[in-house]
Amino acid sequence: MTNRTFTMIKPDAMKSGHAGLILDRIIKEGYKIVALKMTKLSADKAGEFYAIHKERPFYGELVQFMSSGPIIAAILEKKDAVTQFRTLIGATDPAKAAEGTIRKLYAANVGENAVHGSDSDENAKIEGDFFFSGLERVL
Ligand code: RTP
Ligand code: MG
Repeated sequence: MTNRTFTMIKPDAMKSGHAGLILDRIIKEGYKIVALKMTKLSADKAGEFYAIHKERPFYGELVQFMSSGPIIAAILEKKDAVTQFRTLIGATDPAKAAEGTIRKLYAANVGENAVHGSDSDENAKIEGDFFFSGLERVL
């Protein structure tokens, strides 16, 4: 168990104006923001980020969606951050997500599901390093 995870507010949530509410919720849930930026992924970069899903049928759609507009990327700190944050965002498919979770509140469907959360400590580190240099982090 480590204390950091990585998140993105995805293009759908940016477009629908929910980014502020999502960041507010994350802060109210006790996460410290270690790094934060808004950026737009190229298709190449989105493909690289989600390379683990290369063979999946939804990969093309996923890459297209994740490069379709701006995103906000952040490194977050809290005790048991990876597991706690996955609970906060809810199931991949918002129809299956628990009440009150970020995806239940703000996601439209399994493809366009408002937020990303790292699925392991190892991936949290890889993903944070993908977006942020040492200079771009505090704490
Ligand atoms: P994420 O990595 O974005 O936090 O999502 P996750 O762990 O809950 O789900 P994962 O299995 O890693 O899938 C990554 C993203 O691919 C899109 N997806 N589309 N159309 C589909 O059936 C489908 N399945 C997954 C979603 O954007 C999902 O978050
Ligand atoms: Mg995942």
